[in-house]
Amino acid sequence: MSDKKLAIETQALSRYFGNQCAVNHVNLSVEAGTFYGFLGPNGAGKSTTIKMLTGLLEPSSGEIRVLGLDPRNDTQALEIKRQIGVVPENLALFDNLTAKEYLSFVGRMFLLDHATIRRRSEELLSLMALDKEQKKLALEYSHGMQKKLALAAALLPNPKLLFLDEPFEGVDAITSKVIRELLGDYVSRGATVFLTSHVLEIVEKLCTHVGIISGGNLVEQTSLAELSQGNSLEQTFLEKVGSVADSPRKLSWLEEGVAE
Ligand SMILES: Nc1ncnc2c1ncn2[C@@H]1O[C@H](COP(=O)(O)OP(=O)(O)OP(=O)(O)O)[C@@H](O)[C@H]1O
Ligand SMILES: [Mg+2]
Repeated sequence: MSDKKLAIETQALSRYFGNQCAVNHVNLSVEAGTFYGFLGPNGAGKSTTIKMLTGLLEPSSGEIRVLGLDPRNDTQALEIKRQIGVVPENLALFDNLTAKEYLSFVGRMFLLDHATIRRRSEELLSLMALDKEQKKLALEYSHGMQKKLALAAALLPNPKLLFLDEPFEGVDAITSKVIRELLGDYVSRGATVFLTSHVLEIVEKLCTHVGIISGGNLVEQTSLAELSQGNSLEQTFLEKVGSVADSPRKLSWLEEGVAE
């Protein structure tokens, strides 16, 4: 567990909830500077993995290195938090702050000076098309607006490594394009993005590497370049998570026709 070029590395990472194994001996290997798409069906273990990688959830067992640092060491755990940005599954915003207040709070937590916070906040809010709704509190935001604010907050400190749990879910088509371009630029500068998404078309276009988790097991980890020599991402995905694809696809009672 010492390769400096790896942004994320796990060995036999596992998490149980009671008797249920949500993440099972997962060995992730994410090189720095890659755009990594973490895929899997609902309930596969994606969010649980992201929570463990970002310090939101304790692993049951296994090893984690993020940017070469060990989150189980308190000093290193703080250093990891300084260097990463996270959009978690539940967004975790503060309901009673406006977008500007929230970004200001996050900026101060990362010890940015006021001028930098103001400049970056204005740019981010304008890019996310949130600048017209300055007076609204986060709790008054729509779901997509909240997601964009969470993404803006994750980007504000200009982190080396971004963890995004379904960043495109609930976001309109225009902003989705803006976010895709922004993340593409971000990775081309040398940063690393680790995201989950169910939208395989976006992942195929955007990501350089993918990992597929199914039933808590990492069933594929490869570069898109290697993958594209053979199957499409959708074909690979359906093959690897076959048990889900094999489940019934029709509702028997629909064949009876609509009730009069
Ligand atoms: N706090 C919890 N308590 C009990 N079980 C949990 C908890 N969090 C997750 N699980 C279980 O762990 C498994 C993995 O859940 P997880 O949220 O990681 O899936 P996911 O891949 O992110 O799915 P989705 O695509 O629906 O977001 C599921 O079976 C889920 O029910
Ligand atoms: Mg999830």
